Amino acid sequence: MREFRAVGARKRPGLFVTFEGIEGSGKSTQVSRVAARLGGLGVPVVATREPGGTEVGRTLRDVLLHSSGRLDPSVELLLMFADRRHHLVETIEPALAAGQVVLCDRYTDASRAYQGAGRRLGEDAVDALHRRFCRREPDVTYLFDCPVETALARVAGRGAARADRFEGEALAFHRRVRSAYRRRARREPRRFVVLDARRSADEVFASLLRDLLPRLESAGFLPRGAPL
Ligand code: TYD
Repeated sequence: MREFRAVGARKRPGLFVTFEGIEGSGKSTQVSRVAARLGGLGVPVVATREPGGTEVGRTLRDVLLHSSGRLDPSVELLLMFADRRHHLVETIEPALAAGQVVLCDRYTDASRAYQGAGRRLGEDAVDALHRRFCRREPDVTYLFDCPVETALARVAGRGAARADRFEGEALAFHRRVRSAYRRRARREPRRFVVLDARRSADEVFASLLRDLLPRLESAGFLPRGAPL
């Protein structure tokens, strides 16, 4: 069936929203909550994550998080970008082209923080791969920021059977990751929104929505002034 568009109506572009933070910062919980709320408001939304947002990506995620032998840091970085490139092509770009809101749990900023700073590969290596294979920049990035001790205590409290390759890293590693995220947020203040993740999940959710809903209104995803 042919679709007719009103004269002068433009196709609305999608919105690419990423969520970042150290382990235990609570971002994954918020991605699910935001997805549910937006879905309830009738906003076309896709919630996804890296690594592991696709079928191929789930295999890569398993290697990245659970392989027992040593993984060279550069191999780790390349596998992150293999996952990212595939995810972009398969999921993110088609969803944005279809005018959807994409909520992505981690993206290139995670590689800058974990491989660039945590593994000390340097951010230039990450930026070079991003420019060559990804290019797509998020419209907005929410950084869930809290002290490493608070975050790791939450991870320990989850009582997971065993820590993954990143959770098992030393305190100093996680400190480098947090500092790198904060540095990036200072460098790109227009893209980043830093949320104080020491607060309760409800408080963090409320402040996230206070920032996100007006963006969705101005991008035409929600009627202006609708009761939310
Ligand atoms: P994630 O699923 O967010 O773990 P959690 O929900 O426990 O926070 O991410 C998995 C791990 O992968 C996390 O420890 C961070 C790491 N990671 C990188 O090191 N580099 C990357 O580019 C990405 C996307 C993730």
